[in-house]
Amino acid sequence: ALVSMRQMLDHAAEFEYGIPAFNVNNLEQVRAIMQAASDTDSPVIMQASAGARSYAGAPFLRHLILAAIEEFPHIPVVMHQDHGTSPSVCQRSIQLGFSSVMMDGSLGEDGKTPTSYEYNVDVTRRTVEMAHACGVSVEGELGCLGSLETGLAGEEDGIGAEGVLSTEQMLTDPEEAADFVAKTQVDALAIACGTSHGAYKFTRPPTGDILAIDRIKEIHTRIPNTHLVMHGSSSVPQEWLAVINEFGGEMPQTYGVPVEQLQESIKHGVRKINIDTDLRLAATGAIRRFMAQNPSEFDPRKYLKASTQAMYEICKARYEAFHTAGNASKI
Ligand code: G3H
Ligand code: 13P
Ligand code: ZN
Repeated sequence: ALVSMRQMLDHAAEFEYGIPAFNVNNLEQVRAIMQAASDTDSPVIMQASAGARSYAGAPFLRHLILAAIEEFPHIPVVMHQDHGTSPSVCQRSIQLGFSSVMMDGSLGEDGKTPTSYEYNVDVTRRTVEMAHACGVSVEGELGCLGSLETGLAGEEDGIGAEGVLSTEQMLTDPEEAADFVAKTQVDALAIACGTSHGAYKFTRPPTGDILAIDRIKEIHTRIPNTHLVMHGSSSVPQEWLAVINEFGGEMPQTYGVPVEQLQESIKHGVRKINIDTDLRLAATGAIRRFMAQNPSEFDPRKYLKASTQAMYEICKARYEAFHTAGNASKI
């Protein structure tokens, strides 16, 4: 069934687990996520970015998710719009039937320019008023994703600040977070703690100086009843990087957020953990390997099946690691 994000995160908070929110663009991702959820009895959050909407089109994404709900009626599903850049973008998704939207007012309508605190409060509060009137949940964001190692914002394409950011911009302030939640009444708050979108998050396995789990603890202590969201939460599996490079890929050495750090953040109020890159890496690795090992195959279903299986394994591992598993039937 389609449920609101609020209902699902309230359950996760009560029973102290986390829920991976996977980005979806196509059938293979939706199937991998749903099959893994069904096999582990996990509730599901699927989210569509602006990039996904321009790739597949909002109607196709919506119907893929509705098809998933029809095929897996026992799994609660949140259909979430990732990184909305204005109240009107969020309004369109609400009209399309999304059960949750993100109003990312930390960046302007271009999805790149950091905004003022007042602007962020204003667009988020307006979105909450509209969404709540329709029974739709809202995620806000305070702070900008970016690398504490380089001071750079990360992601070239897609959503992410452009250029250089200050440490202050890249670490959400607990006091400001409390004020923001009180003023906007968001259902969930995305915070910045040193992660960034994409595969190139850290040049070395992250330590506390570049991945500020302590900051999450401080925010959670200040606003214990707010559901926190961590963006840029891919772990960048070293085994998939190796497969990609073994079969013709050229990706430089890079590191993501270790699963143990994600488990630690769940202990401190993080309930929604956004993952896109890990499924991309697994899909690409599996397809590269299949193509190299089966040079005479030309049926796309064969290599897409290999990619679906690879993504399924990541989803299953995250559902188990975050203790999402076993909760679908309890919501
Ligand atoms: O927000 C970041 C997600 O990884 C979505 O990326 O805009 O390329 O679809 P995208
Ligand atoms: P990753 O690039 O780490 O998978 O993060 C995805 C994300 O935060 C989507 O909003
Ligand atoms: Zn994000």
